[in-house]
Amino acid sequence: MGYDIPEPFCWDESFAVFYGQLDEEHKNIFKGIFALAAGDNADNLKALIKVTDDHFKFEETQIQASTSYSSEYVGHKKKHDDFLDVLNGLSAPVGAEKLNYAKDWLVTHIKGTDFGYKGKLDKTKV
Ligand code: FEO
Repeated sequence: MGYDIPEPFCWDESFAVFYGQLDEEHKNIFKGIFALAAGDNADNLKALIKVTDDHFKFEETQIQASTSYSSEYVGHKKKHDDFLDVLNGLSAPVGAEKLNYAKDWLVTHIKGTDFGYKGKLDKTKV
């Protein structure tokens, strides 16, 4: 199933998972991809990898701690790891094709995978 890619590439309410920190982190990954598209250089690539890696680590701890979603942990983490492998394999300038891949991956991952934990994480921690 394909999801619409926002243009300009910015987070909007349709991506909300309704956990404050996770939504903020998702916004930061959107901003990171947007910044890399605007300035396709090594600093922006490095910054994108950092916000993505930080987000994945935090989200994974919340998934592991969830009583009703932790069974999805291994599969969910694999998706994170595979995307990070791609990002870590890039060098700037990454080019339009890889930028489009990253945009599509993020949109698809939030709506197709992250949405699976909506309502299932501990609200006091996220
Ligand atoms: Fe929000 Fe599974 O990344």
